[in-house]
Formats: sequence, C-alpha cells, structure tokens
Amino acid sequence: MTNEQVFITDVGPRDGLQNQSRILSVEQRVQLIGALADAGVGQIEVGSFVSPKAVPAMAGTDLVVRQLQADNHYTTPNVALIPNLKGYHLARSAGLSRVVMVLYASDSMAQKNVGMTMVEANRVTLQILDEAVGDGIQVIATIAVVFECPFEGAIDPSVSQSLVDQFIAAGAYQVVLADTIGAAHPQQVRALTASLVDRHVADSLGCHFHDTRAMGLANVHAALESGIRRFDSSIAGLGGCPFAPGASGNVATDDVAMMLAQMGFETGIDLAKLMIASDLACQLTGSTKGGRAKSWLVNQLQENPAWPEINKQPHQG
Ligand code: COA
Ligand code: ZN
Repeated sequence: MTNEQVFITDVGPRDGLQNQSRILSVEQRVQLIGALADAGVGQIEVGSFVSPKAVPAMAGTDLVVRQLQADNHYTTPNVALIPNLKGYHLARSAGLSRVVMVLYASDSMAQKNVGMTMVEANRVTLQILDEAVGDGIQVIATIAVVFECPFEGAIDPSVSQSLVDQFIAAGAYQVVLADTIGAAHPQQVRALTASLVDRHVADSLGCHFHDTRAMGLANVHAALESGIRRFDSSIAGLGGCPFAPGASGNVATDDVAMMLAQMGFETGIDLAKLMIASDLACQLTGSTKGGRAKSWLVNQLQENPAWPEINKQPHQG
C-alpha cells in the first residue's frame, strides 16, 4: 500500500524571516532555502515582492530567486508572496511561475497590511489572475485572517467561504486559508474545511496555521480529517506578521512533518535533513530553538535513524 501524500510548503524564508529582528543576507536566505530543498520539502516560499520600506527583511527577493535559478541542482518549486500588481510584475520578471497573492477576510487587516479594502484587494487579484493566464503563471490566493482578525475579532465563516468560492471560480491555482494570528481552534477549522471540501476539489485548498495559542498542530490535524492535504508551515516555527499584532510563529515544519510521518502520510521529507535545516534557521535568526518536538526528534533520529518507518501506522482512509 502506498502512503497518502501530503504536500508541505515551507514558508519560513518568507513568513519566518519577515518578522525577525535580524535581517539575513541574500546568501543566508539562499542557504536556508537550500537546506529546506535538501530535506525534500515540497515547495518553498522563498520571499516576497513587497515594499522594502514596509518589510526590509524581504528586500532582495529577486536576487534570492536569481541565485536559486543559477544553481543547476536546485529543482524544488519556489513561490513568492505578492501584495499587489507591482509585486506580480516583479515576481514575473524574476522568472517565477507561481505566486502567492494575499486576500483578506477583514477590511482592517487589508488596510493595515497593504492600504486597501477587501474589495480592492479582490479586484487587484482578479486583475492579476487575468494577466497570469497569458503569462502562464499560477496564482495561489491566500486569504489572511480567515478565522479571526486582530482588529475586528471573529470572522463570519460565510465571508471566508464566499472568498474561497469566488477565487476558485476565478481560476486561482489554489486557495489557502490563513489563520494569520493563530487564533482558530480545531472545531472551527474542521467545520470550515469540511464545508469547503464538500464544494471544491480538496487539492485546490490549503491551510496555513500559526501556533500562537499552541493549537497549530491540532488545527493541522483537524484540516487533515476534513481531507485537506496541503499545508504551509515554517522551519523551526519561525514566523509572524509585522502588521498583525499578536501573531507569533507558524506551526513548525519540524512538528508537522514528524506528526505526518508517524501517522503514515508521505511528505517526501527526510526528517534528519529537516533537523539540519531547523538548526540552520535557529543559528541564522538566533530567535528560536526549533519545533516543539525537536529535542525528542533529534535524539530519536540519532538512536534510530529509520524512525518512524518501524512503528508508523499507514493512514487508513
Ligand atoms: N514591491 C516593491 N515596491 C512596491 C510594491 C511592491 N509590490 N508596491 C508598491 N511599491 C512601492 C511603490 O513603487 C512606491 O515606491 P516609492 O516610494 O519609491 O515611489 C512605494 O512602494 C509606495 O507605494 P504605494 O502604492 O503608495 O504603497 P503604500 O505605501 O501604500 O504601500 C504596499 C503598499 C502594498 C507596497 C506595502 O504596504 C507593502 O509592501 N505591504 C506588504 C506587507 C507585507 O508583506 N505583509 C506581510 C505579508 S502578508
Ligand atoms: Zn502566516
């Protein structure tokens, strides 16, 4: 029996690094991305094409992309976040074939992040989708603050649902539900994702959780139970949005990959190599020790490099 696949996008080089007090050099960013690629992560969000005044840590994403393209051995799919049409054009010039455009489930978050209303962000996204068809570029639409906004509180699930419906219909390659401030609980996640999986092909949906209230992994599991098979996570649990008060790190790729491996899902990730990437993320940023289970996982892999092959239960249905 082949194990069921789960696709992980590591957003550490973007969501993680955008919020650090230490700004990494282009070379350091490329080194971290290379370590994630070596570990077999499915896709990497390598940076963002945003205003360098708004997010200084993401300046030079074009150079990061160029350096990755120059490495003949580098084959992992890359994406970059864009906030507007200018970002789309910069990502296209850099040669990316997939981008992540941000939508909003609240006006206040849209205003704080990009100075637009929700409706303006929707309109710009439709314009980007239109251009992208001709450019042969895939657009992932990530909806920020899907469950709760730091300024407006709880979001009515019908708001998020209709954004998903609208942008899948408009031709988004995928729509990702982002719990930007890590406020959701598993029942909410289960309810929203189950209703979306009922209406859309599961492969067109993804989830992006932050671990602010220690529910990141529980929320990944809740979405898995609904049939979601695409997740964003961040190496060593780096992460957070400078424009969303209270947002802490993303759920750690370290923990998500470990849980999935133990449950018998296939992610393509080599856990020992992932720990090398996690060590590097910790060393470069100086701000984290890695995923919650890291010390256990590192010991386990030292004693038994084949873990979890010997004890995992293939996922059933
Ligand atoms: N990339 C780089 N520069 C950009 C840009 C982009 N995608 N979009 C706009 N700019 C530049 C403009 O050219 C202008 O440059 P100038 O000052 O040299 O003339 C400057 O940014 C301001 O442009 P303006 O249209 O007035 O935008 P703004 O000041 O209202 O800022 C954004 C809007 C979207 C550019 C800015 O808020 C931003 O980059 N936000 C991203 C936030 C983010 O990354 N959040 C975390 C991830 S969700
Ligand atoms: Zn995030």
